[in-house]
Amino acid sequence: MSGTEHGVAEAESDPRPGEPPVERRDAPAPGGQPDRAGAEPLLSVRDVWHALGDTQVLEEISFDVFPGEIFGIMGMSGSGKTTLLRLLIGLDRPDSGHVFFKGEDISVLDEDGLNRVRKSMGMCFQYSALFDSMTVACNVAFSMRNRRDVSPEQVEERVRELLDVVEMEGTEDRMPADLSGGMKKRVGIARALMEQPELVFYDEPSSGLDPLMSRNITGLIKKVSDDQGSTAVVVSHDVQNLLGMTDRLLMLHDRRVQVIGTPDEIRRCDIPIVERFVRWIDTEPDTESRAER
Ligand SMILES: Nc1ncnc2c1ncn2[C@@H]1O[C@H](COP(=O)(O)OP(=O)(O)OP(=O)(O)O)[C@@H](O)[C@H]1O
Ligand SMILES: [Mg+2]
Repeated sequence: MSGTEHGVAEAESDPRPGEPPVERRDAPAPGGQPDRAGAEPLLSVRDVWHALGDTQVLEEISFDVFPGEIFGIMGMSGSGKTTLLRLLIGLDRPDSGHVFFKGEDISVLDEDGLNRVRKSMGMCFQYSALFDSMTVACNVAFSMRNRRDVSPEQVEERVRELLDVVEMEGTEDRMPADLSGGMKKRVGIARALMEQPELVFYDEPSSGLDPLMSRNITGLIKKVSDDQGSTAVVVSHDVQNLLGMTDRLLMLHDRRVQVIGTPDEIRRCDIPIVERFVRWIDTEPDTESRAER
């Protein structure tokens, strides 16, 4: 059953960013395709299909992310959220379909092209992925290690500034092994922001944290997006947190985008799998296979 039939806009199927959709079963609700007064999407995903090994993970994925938005991707464990993020940042190429960043098709770029585009993107990985043998400062500054146009003093200053932003001031010389899970997440966020990216991806920023720390991290992402004027794509199965922090979000399930809408539209959505996901998540951790029973 389509999201559009339920009054919440479904993913459109336009072939290129910014162009009118060629096929649409119904007029979308405001949340699915917000009125941005003709604004070009920063990120545009068009009919992406992707398999991992023998598993078809994603089918017919299409959506836009506009400048300044906090856009959420929710779905159960194993629904393909991390797989999708890797395609968005160009770490993997889709089997078919396109990912446009500022109108440029990154799915066809070579490594040099991808490195250029990735300078405008920051990635906060699901498991923080800090280098255990490096100090906090070296981890945060990692992406700038080969930059000849920036002095060591400037790098040091930027690291200090970012550790301040994520409320980790004074921890430059500490090692990852001495940090709590929440602290590691914060260092991961600082590292993602080092080169002042226009678009920041967060993969499960609050997983494995206690509820208070989880809300803390959520608040931090919102603050960072406001202060730095950046756009964020946040992936999570923590639905309540996601509903509280995003401007719009989509749900991945059964390889496809089930629905795209504002948090209010998603809360009111009566597509059975969306309803179950949004209502259950507080009480029962779930996976794609359990939910089908
Ligand atoms: N390297 C791989 N080879 C084959 N299948 C894979 C591989 N990596 C992931 N998968 C499968 O792809 C599907 C999507 O995985 P993915 O990690 O994207 O899910 P996810 O939504 O991020 O899950 P989680 O919430 O647990 O992080 C899963 O069924 C997983 O088993
Ligand atoms: Mg994941």
